[in-house]
Amino acid sequence: MKNSSNEKRIFSGIQPTGNLTIGNYLGAVKRWVKLQAEKSDTIYCIVDLHAATTWQDPRELRETTRELVASLLACGLNPKESILFNQSQVSAHSELAWIFNCVARIGWLNRMTQFKDKAGKDKEKASVGLFAYPTLMAADILAYKATHVPVGEDQKQHLELTRDIASKFNLDYKVGDFFPLPEPLIEGAATRVMSLRDGQKKMSKSDASDFSRINLNDSSDLINQKIKKAKTDPYPLPDSLDELQGRPEALNLINIYAALSDRAPETVLEEFSGREFSYFKPKLAELTVDQICPISDKMKALLKDPNYIDCILHEGSTTAAQIANPIIHEVYEIVGLIRKRSQL
Ligand code: AMP
Ligand code: TRP
Repeated sequence: MKNSSNEKRIFSGIQPTGNLTIGNYLGAVKRWVKLQAEKSDTIYCIVDLHAATTWQDPRELRETTRELVASLLACGLNPKESILFNQSQVSAHSELAWIFNCVARIGWLNRMTQFKDKAGKDKEKASVGLFAYPTLMAADILAYKATHVPVGEDQKQHLELTRDIASKFNLDYKVGDFFPLPEPLIEGAATRVMSLRDGQKKMSKSDASDFSRINLNDSSDLINQKIKKAKTDPYPLPDSLDELQGRPEALNLINIYAALSDRAPETVLEEFSGREFSYFKPKLAELTVDQICPISDKMKALLKDPNYIDCILHEGSTTAAQIANPIIHEVYEIVGLIRKRSQL
């Protein structure tokens, strides 16, 4: 690990379902790479067990897992500086999730808006796993006693639940602050990148319309077309963020530009105030192509060697298990489960 004397431990996860969008990149992965450069421990997990809460074609799941590793490496994650692994290779996640299923209350889970969105109208037909998804997420984080979790805005409620589970465990078993209460890191101009077709809807890997999102593996032509067709309004860009109230599509494009160029949205508006979208959109497209296309080129090159990718996951999982296993053993001790002598 980078610096074990440092109190801060970063953990985050991402599902191997579909291509990464610019929303995932700006809301999560770009910030993961920045945090990697700081002194804290950084642990990043491909949450394949979370993906399994809705049916996945087994062959595709293996492929999308490898594709996701390739994208993360192409975005700048370095397996020498961060631990990068897939969840199912470290049994601590499922083991702790079971304990947390016994700590979390059904009422807490009933309030989760992501379950309501994903289960849709017929909740009775959703998998038990989809309902219990947030307890597995709490286990992901707390199996490492992580203190900080960089995520997009949509994960805030799950983080609050994680804190509730940690507090109740500490209290029920009278173990002080055995589990830390992890802080969400939801920062920057792009914590919620919106659909290019509807500024009220989150950009998502699973939206039926491919023109609602920019994927990290889109060609430069496609990126240009998608930005050209992005929904806007007939007014020029104003000079203050306040004036973008009620103009969600315009605000979204400004936020994307700001996050891509590492500037504040206010500064971007200063540059483009009074300009029409016919001027702004080509600039945004150029910036997007400049940042995204090199990532997709690297990703394609990396995917030519699936063995290399599997090795990274294997090594990452071994290191992750070395941190998580002793914590799980302590949890079992606390809960009163008898362990084999060799496991103590
Ligand atoms: P998921 O694709 O649901 O596994 O999400 C992976 C990470 O990307 C999480 O931290 C999400 O909060 C973040 N994320 C997903 N979609 C967006 C979006 N449209 N804007 C900002 N962050 C996002
Ligand atoms: N639930 C997150 C999402 O859908 C992914 C995730 C799983 C996660 N476990 C995590 C994120 C732990 C942060 C920490 O995006």
